[in-house]
Amino acid sequence: MASLQLPMRMMILPMMVISLVLVSIPTSAALPFVLLHGIGGYCGEMFYSWFKTYAGSVSGSTGYCIEIGNGAPDSWTMPLHEQARIACEKVKQMAELKDGYNIVGISQGNLIARGLIELCDGGPRVNNYISLGGPQAGLISFCMPLLHMQEHMAPSGYIKVPTDIRGYLKGCKYLPRINNEIPDQRNATYKKRFSSLKNLVLIMFEEDTIVVPKETAWFGFYPDGDLTKILPPQETKLYTEDWIGLRTLDEAKKVHFIRLPGIHIGITPAGIIENVVPYLKEQVLAKTTIKGWSSLVSNTMTDLIAAKEKRLLHK
Ligand SMILES: *[C@@H]1O[C@H](CO)[C@@H](O)[C@H](O)[C@H]1NC(C)=O
Repeated sequence: MASLQLPMRMMILPMMVISLVLVSIPTSAALPFVLLHGIGGYCGEMFYSWFKTYAGSVSGSTGYCIEIGNGAPDSWTMPLHEQARIACEKVKQMAELKDGYNIVGISQGNLIARGLIELCDGGPRVNNYISLGGPQAGLISFCMPLLHMQEHMAPSGYIKVPTDIRGYLKGCKYLPRINNEIPDQRNATYKKRFSSLKNLVLIMFEEDTIVVPKETAWFGFYPDGDLTKILPPQETKLYTEDWIGLRTLDEAKKVHFIRLPGIHIGITPAGIIENVVPYLKEQVLAKTTIKGWSSLVSNTMTDLIAAKEKRLLHK
């Protein structure tokens, strides 16, 4: 008996290791994420490579920073619709993203993120979108005359002066389009795509003085013609008339409005763990119900046990 038990035990241990490995395949297959850097940044910059590696390793997902053109200079001078078009071509060519992906947008990178979600025909599906300090509802600039003259500059695509809405809708080539702000040019496809996000995480930084007003990170903004107050997202027309599906998503409890202390993009490792990582961790198989999932696990176990028994019995 003893001589039989020893080899059995020696075989069970490797089997357990194998079954653990097999069972852990789905859990390690978190969707990849794409990181989109801010203006004047580039993928090789220390913050972005750290962010990608850190968020990736803590969540168990693989991050890819998408570079557009030559990085920092082009992030300033290339119009946003062009940047979004290039990003779209890039994600379509990445086999790693074919089952879908999550996006982390940093500052201006969020407008490219929005382009990937809304404008990228034939692109891979975006699952969760995490926006850090994004000028989602526009940005009021203190050097407006300069930027307005430079029509080709990227920020001219989202500078919004509440006292000159006509100028904004007419002159601004990008944000009014992706926010479906132009009454006779609203595109239902943009809304459909944006509302199909699984989670929309909007992170605002309390002491943000770069993205002004800071509430734009939540789609909050000044009312038209009034610089004296800022509307919360739920009181803007974009929300109440549901131009892009923000209200639809919010009513489905899919929007997470997060307020973090700190300056523009002043996120800490703890802030990443708490607010970013949970949305990167989500599994490829997340759609299977818990029941389906546990039966998948137990099926794998059962198959292993069956295979082991077969081998042992038919040796
Ligand atoms: C709306 O956007 C989609 C996707 O980009 C495009 O195929 C379609 O032609 C647009 N519709 C209109 C009316 O512009």
